[in-house]
Amino acid sequence: MSDEVRVPTAILISGRGSNMAALLAAAQDPGYPARIVLVLSNRPGAAGLARARETGIPTAVVDHAAHPDRESFDAALDARLRAAGVELVALAGFMRILTEGFVRAWEGRMINIHPSLLPAFRGTRTHERALAAGVAEHGCTVHHVVPELDAGPTIAQARVPVLQGDTPEILAERVLAQEHALYPRALADVARTLRDATRH
Ligand code: GAR
Repeated sequence: MSDEVRVPTAILISGRGSNMAALLAAAQDPGYPARIVLVLSNRPGAAGLARARETGIPTAVVDHAAHPDRESFDAALDARLRAAGVELVALAGFMRILTEGFVRAWEGRMINIHPSLLPAFRGTRTHERALAAGVAEHGCTVHHVVPELDAGPTIAQARVPVLQGDTPEILAERVLAQEHALYPRALADVARTLRDATRH
């Protein structure tokens, strides 16, 4: 597939970047419908940045601590994405709440992975809360990003059983393995849909 028909995509991270690594690996296939043009972090020390640099993908930091408020942070983020020619954004462990204006500007072109079967367990500490609730099944969701946190339309989900003796860490690992398989498939679906919608 030629580069013109691969949707230029940014991955936004805040931490270790294991989902980012799964997306980068999938996008190495020249037939993958998204081309990763930028990995961006709001934290200069995010481990995922080093991992991205090793693969030769351009990286950027927009440090939230260097901005006085959410609006100015989001404006800087938006400028950086547009400068890189980004058309699709994949949040991968990006732990910042985005302003409504930013989300509206990217709506339909920004997706996220969340470690629960949404609408169950929005927010943080999802594995701990799933165990406390005694659910038999847990998992992860890729969804479109809307202004309300963890509330956008679902693109894909993967399920895992909750087993006797699970701790939040053990359960997180079981879910994470599913995230790494699910997110590359979901990003490909969204990129294909966008590409087909803009092609005449
Ligand atoms: C992943 O489990 C992801 O689903 C979660 O953070 C982890 C990031 O890991 N995201 C959220 O909780 C978003 N609200 P990674 O940096 O290794 O991909």
